[in-house]
Amino acid sequence: MAKFLVTGGAGFIGGNFLHIMVNRYPNDEYVCLDALTYAGNMETLEPILNKPNFKFVHENICNREGVFKLFEKEHFDYVINFAAESHVDRSIEDPEIFLRTNILGTAVLMDACRKYGIKRFHQVSTDEVYGDLPLDRKDLFFTESTPLHTSSPYSASKASADLLVLAYHRTFKLPVTISRCSNNYGPYQFPEKLIPLMIQKASRDEALPVYGNGSNVRDWLYVGDHCNAIDLIVRNGKDGEVYNVGGHNEKTNLEVVKTILSALNKPETLINYVKDRPGHDLRYAIDPKKIETELGWKPEHNFKTGIAATIKWNLENTKWLHNVESGEYMNWMKKHY
Ligand code: NAD
Ligand code: DAU
Repeated sequence: MAKFLVTGGAGFIGGNFLHIMVNRYPNDEYVCLDALTYAGNMETLEPILNKPNFKFVHENICNREGVFKLFEKEHFDYVINFAAESHVDRSIEDPEIFLRTNILGTAVLMDACRKYGIKRFHQVSTDEVYGDLPLDRKDLFFTESTPLHTSSPYSASKASADLLVLAYHRTFKLPVTISRCSNNYGPYQFPEKLIPLMIQKASRDEALPVYGNGSNVRDWLYVGDHCNAIDLIVRNGKDGEVYNVGGHNEKTNLEVVKTILSALNKPETLINYVKDRPGHDLRYAIDPKKIETELGWKPEHNFKTGIAATIKWNLENTKWLHNVESGEYMNWMKKHY
């Protein structure tokens, strides 16, 4: 039996991770710490709220006193840090909160790990720390030794956190691992990100805003496959190691948008080319050989099956989406406590 702290678990990937793990490991305990920013949604956690091995704590990872008190009380074995500001466009509008949460918050968590002792601190990072690859070099992929080379305040904050995590490992011998995954999609994703946004807009016959000419490439991974990778790394990975996670599902943004339009039987005339994102990364592509060979990870979904499941989820879960769009999800704490 082990006790896990999962930060950012009311968000998209952390929420999916908890849904899977709380059920997969009934003898382990999962404590979710989340500040419930605009991206945190207690309705995402409803399927597991009453499970005996699950508990929610409303806290901010930057609040040193609150975090230390929680560690003192709970004696965690494993800490998995999903908590972050995660949207590139918001980081371009206003970088500061990205630096506070993504860098300083990570340091607070690791300081608590040092003081109270843990078996492993896992940092959920991103392929964006590697910058981008050219569109005309399909032979190039990000490996774990690709140099960090960031483009946005978001990716710079995540790369800074990665460097801190590795520094805590070397200097303080903190047992750490890092995963760097490509773009995720699936249930419970906040509809400011490309795929859920386009599904919502297309289903209402609204214009679909494609940045630039739509030729930027992302490497899409179904969220459950990312969660399984993190589970494997936390349990079987090696201290101080970085693991890239991706399933070779590279698509241009235009391909993604057209797939959604076709699945919903909507015309391509809904596509609206808009001003490009400043500093827009051209192509992400992960080489996942290390996690495949060393830990035996393999994705269960390809883009075809994953996008079909995601479109279905978005069409069926109108209450969750309606409450996000109306802002009603923000009232969950007031209503229930
Ligand atoms: P998200 O924005 O959906 O969720 C983030 C969660 O963190 C929310 O619940 C939010 O309330 C919480 N949070 C934010 N600031 C906090 C703070 N200061 N203290 C406590 N909680 C706080 O993000 P996501 O898409 O689920 O991403 C989760 C992690 O995975 C992030 O670290 C992100 O960098 C990384 N990642 C995301 C992707 C992707 O495609 N979405 C891919 C690779 C890696
Ligand atoms: O690669 C992993 C990263 O993927 C994560 O670290 C980030 O947290 C996550 O948000 C995601 O970043 P992206 O910037 O790639 O995701 P986003 O959904 O914002 O955009 C995907 C692509 O679609 C990108 O090339 C920009 C484009 N786009 C996005 C939006 C929201 C559009 O063309 N139109 C849009 O309206």
